Amino acid sequence: MEMIHRYERFFLGSTLAIMGIALVAVISSFFIEDLELPSPVETVDPAELTSHPPFDRPGLFEVGENEYDAIMTAQAWAFVPSVIEVPVGAKVNFKIGATDVVHGLIVHNTNVNLTIIPGQISQATATFDEPGEFLMVCSEYCGIQHHNMAGRVIVK
Ligand code: CUA
Repeated sequence: MEMIHRYERFFLGSTLAIMGIALVAVISSFFIEDLELPSPVETVDPAELTSHPPFDRPGLFEVGENEYDAIMTAQAWAFVPSVIEVPVGAKVNFKIGATDVVHGLIVHNTNVNLTIIPGQISQATATFDEPGEFLMVCSEYCGIQHHNMAGRVIVK
């Protein structure tokens, strides 16, 4: 006598096959699409961040042809610098650390969406092909003025 009914065996098999296909899709997308999980590029004592180069001089630095490093700090309740101006077509590498609590950095209409954990430097790159203003907002609740923690990327 069969221990497992053939219908049950069929559904068990189908479930495992679907799980297998999903797993293969997720794992292969990392290689095919070159996906990366955001990971800390560096660790820094948050109390020392503002005296730790390059974060002792936050700002925009040209590092190549229309390519810039945006060196930023996040603290309650501001980004430094809060306004970044670049020419159209600029590639901007955002490098940001927090001095106090967890903040976030979302640059609207780009792929930049970082969690900024004190002690870690977060990094993301975006290319600005269209002129305009892109709002930067903090995406982690960081205290009573969280909703006012914002900035802009101006592309012209
Ligand atoms: Cu910083 Cu919310």
